[in-house]
Amino acid sequence: MSGELAVKLEGLTKTYGTGALAFQALKGIDLSVTQGEFMMLVGPSGSGKTTLLSILGCVLAPTSGEGWLFGEPLHGRRESELPELRLSYIGFIFQGNNLLPALSIEDNVAFPLELRGSSRRQAVAEARDVLSAVGLGDKLKRHPNDLSGGQRQRVAVARAVAGRPPLILADEPTASLDAETGQQVTELLKKLSTERGHTVVVVTHDNRIFHFADRTVHIEDGLLLAAPPH
Ligand SMILES: Nc1ncnc2c1ncn2[C@@H]1O[C@H](COP(=O)(O)OP(=O)(O)O)[C@@H](O)[C@H]1O
Ligand SMILES: [Mg+2]
Repeated sequence: MSGELAVKLEGLTKTYGTGALAFQALKGIDLSVTQGEFMMLVGPSGSGKTTLLSILGCVLAPTSGEGWLFGEPLHGRRESELPELRLSYIGFIFQGNNLLPALSIEDNVAFPLELRGSSRRQAVAEARDVLSAVGLGDKLKRHPNDLSGGQRQRVAVARAVAGRPPLILADEPTASLDAETGQQVTELLKKLSTERGHTVVVVTHDNRIFHFADRTVHIEDGLLLAAPPH
């Protein structure tokens, strides 16, 4: 595959469960994402968005088909190999921001960097750097519950980009925010990603943020649509 691609998927499927209970959530996905692209994945509830993002994020293994992240195969791997790939390649932003309430925001950002092997000193320096970049440099010792929803989602953006993982995945990152705050958080994610060279895939229902995308891809019933729905 081309070295220019961040993601390449060919005929990728995912089936949950087995036998009579089996449900095919992804039915043969072909998708290429170029390095540096800011892509949005849009589709109705239950269409397979989170499943696809979870496979890209090395949280779930595909059932069949082939996939590559920066040239590294995703298929034919044991589940036990996925966490290492995830740590090397992926920054994840969740709908609810998944911050640890007992830790300061500085430690929320530094902790995953330490898991990836940074020294405490390096991790804290990087955490301060990215929290400043999202406008929270004066709140390093605050805890998530001391902050507004928009500020918490900015911490989640900082945590995702910290350590410069090449691929940032965001699952409905603006769903719990008001319109204006959702715009601001998306704009921030786009700006940081462009500056720092991340590839980004954002799952969203939020048509108010579509204009930030380089490309919008539609999914329905486990299949990508060739053209946007009317
Ligand atoms: N762990 C699971 N076990 C069985 N079915 C699941 C599981 N996760 C998701 N599904 C089903 O797969 C389909 C796609 O789900 P999902 O990827 O979460 O869609 P979306 O994020 O677009 O709402 C849905 O029909 C959902 O019910
Ligand atoms: Mg979902």
